[in-house]
Amino acid sequence: MTTAETSSNSWHSIDELATAVRSCTACGLHSTRTNAVPGSGSSKAEILIIGEGPGFNEDQQGLPFVGRSGKLLDELLAAIPLTREDVFITNVVKCRPPDNRDPLPDEVAACRPYLERQMELTDPKVVVTLGRVSMLRFHPKGKISEDHGKILEWEGRILFPLLHPAAGLRNPAIKRELQQDVLKLPEALRQAHGVSSVNNDDEINGEVDTSAPNSLVTQQDRKLNEDKEELEQENNNRPSSQTADAPIADGQLSEPLLKNETTKEEKGDRQLGIF
Ligand code: URA
Ligand code: SF4
Repeated sequence: MTTAETSSNSWHSIDELATAVRSCTACGLHSTRTNAVPGSGSSKAEILIIGEGPGFNEDQQGLPFVGRSGKLLDELLAAIPLTREDVFITNVVKCRPPDNRDPLPDEVAACRPYLERQMELTDPKVVVTLGRVSMLRFHPKGKISEDHGKILEWEGRILFPLLHPAAGLRNPAIKRELQQDVLKLPEALRQAHGVSSVNNDDEINGEVDTSAPNSLVTQQDRKLNEDKEELEQENNNRPSSQTADAPIADGQLSEPLLKNETTKEEKGDRQLGIF
């Protein structure tokens, strides 16, 4: 699989990178996209928010989080209060996987140089991941049911995993968790100002000493496959119906939960099929 890596040195700005993303053919997702979704917001933002991948509306508009998940994300940010101009928002993969399926490990790998360069260019103090898959990009051993709302350290930055807003749309208990968790974001930012920012090319390009005590990074590409299997098992064990106030298990917070649960209104809308 080709990656976008060979040309990564030529992306001198977020706009240049966005131009490259829009004409990228490094993985199969390019052939089914309407528009690539490089990301939006302030390139000088201290907070980088990372979802999983564009959904139907994002693919149509070429912008991240513009559907119902995005509306909830806006509400969550407003509570702090922050707006889209205070953050930069992007996704692990920049093109919509067809039929709302999960991005495949080779697609995540092919798209990886873009996210890495976005990290370098925006140099955020706090990385907010939305949902399980995005968290695993930085914290492969994490469990979203346990780690959401925790202020973690990742390579000199703060990692702040949140549940995915799409999950909050489907389950009021998850929405409440999201509303509570997001209130800790200002504290995460305060802590980030006390953590020395590391902007080391070797580290960002994956040459990380995984034995370092504070490093949460391991070989994520290998782990993605394992997580996939774990995820399938969780999915098999999941109860067929959920009530709003049922305890939230890890399986409920992972992508396949909503995989086949689209309603007529939601059909084709990735934000309700994946998180
Ligand atoms: N869900 C995501 O993970 N990303 C988007 O951009 C929209 C919905
Ligand atoms: Fe390129 Fe990423 Fe789109 Fe694949 S998902 S075609 S790697 S921009």
